[in-house]
Formats: sequence, structure tokens, C-alpha cells
Amino acid sequence: MDAVRPFKHFSPEENHIWSLLWARQIDNCRSRASKLWLDGLDKLGMTADRVPDFNEMNARLKALTGWELVSTDVVFSDGQTWFEHLARRQFLITEYIREEKDLLYTPLPDIWHDTFGHLPLMTDPRYADYIEHFAHVALRYNKDERTSLGSLWWYTIEFGFIVENDEMKAFGAGLMSSPGEMEHAYSDDVTKTPFSIEAFERISPSPHAMHKTLFIIDNIEQLESSAEMWANRHAQLA
Ligand SMILES: [Fe+2]
Repeated sequence: MDAVRPFKHFSPEENHIWSLLWARQIDNCRSRASKLWLDGLDKLGMTADRVPDFNEMNARLKALTGWELVSTDVVFSDGQTWFEHLARRQFLITEYIREEKDLLYTPLPDIWHDTFGHLPLMTDPRYADYIEHFAHVALRYNKDERTSLGSLWWYTIEFGFIVENDEMKAFGAGLMSSPGEMEHAYSDDVTKTPFSIEAFERISPSPHAMHKTLFIIDNIEQLESSAEMWANRHAQLA
């Protein structure tokens, strides 16, 4: 078992970056985000003025879904480490926060992306269970075998849309944490197409290029079945 590492104390400058990011994106999210995500933001009690207190958020998340936040100074964890933690219901939180010059875009996941983008959805028990399930599926395969499983993550957890009350809502953490990605995703430059396990595999995602196609999941049930759908398809193609 890893030793418990205390959460970092963030400086006034780092809190200032958080507040700038919040100010740029909160209205976008209030109008475009999935209700699941918006409800989660309230449940975690994140605020505009500072990087949240992770001890407090950890306690809230544990009570809501039994997940634990684990501090790391690794900016980009390798897939194996990442999935091993997720399979234990541990969400790694990088301490890195982007610099002010990179407000609009950072290719590296930072504490803003991890926290503001991902954590609200982790307060939903079904979503949180799915993330653990996804990790168990991922750990059945080696890195090369699970490449397109990574694409499934990318096009749902990071950049997916979901239908709620007949409306298309932003669902992916990468949309929530980036004004540029959110704007682009809603523009006519991006084709929004119903999610299917076959369709997304033909597209190779790149963290450095803007998307041309994004996917809309019908509901949380479709998300819940998607990792196993991927595994079945993988078995057929093997
Ligand atoms: Fe992410």
C-alpha cells in the first residue's frame, strides 16, 4: 500500500490561477453541462476563489461514493498506475497547476482539469462505479491491447456529450475544464454523432489536435455497458 501523502498547500498565486480559470468557464458549464456534473459541483462545495481543500473534498467524496483522492506530484501518470488506482477506487490528483500564460490550453492534465473537470461526476454512484469497472476491464489487457479502450475513455469520459431531457449536454471532463474545447465542441466544425462502439475506433484521438468528431451517449446505461461492449468487440476482432 502506498504511504499516504499529504495534500499540497496552494500558494496565493496558484489560487489566483484557479479563480481565473473558474471565471472563464463557470458560465459555460452552467448553461451547457450535464445535470449530473452540475449537481456534483454543488455536492463537493468547490468555490471560485481557491483551489479546494482536498482533505475536505476527500471526506465528501468518500461519504458519497466511497472514492478516495490521492495526491501525486506526477503530472501524467502512466496508464498502468492510473488504472491500478482507479480499480481501488482511488483518483490520482496531480498537484501541478498550469501557469497564467497557459490559461486557455494545456496539453497536460493539471489540478484544474482533474478537479473541476472530473470530480463532480465522481459524486454520482453509478458513474463512480463505472470508472472502477472500466479500470478492471483495462487491467485485463496490456498497454498495446488496450489502445482503443483508451479511445473509449477519451471520447466518453474526457470529451463525450450526453442526452438529458432530449437535449445534448456536455459530459466530458475535458470539455468542462477548457473554454476552448467547449467552444470548439459546440461549433459546426465538429460533427456530433451518436455513440457506437464501432464508430469511435476509426478515429485516433490526439491530445494536441482539435476534434473533428465527437460522440453523444444516450444515457448513463449506455456508458455503463460501453467498457464491456469494447471487451466483447476486442474478443471478436482478436
Ligand atoms: Fe482527464
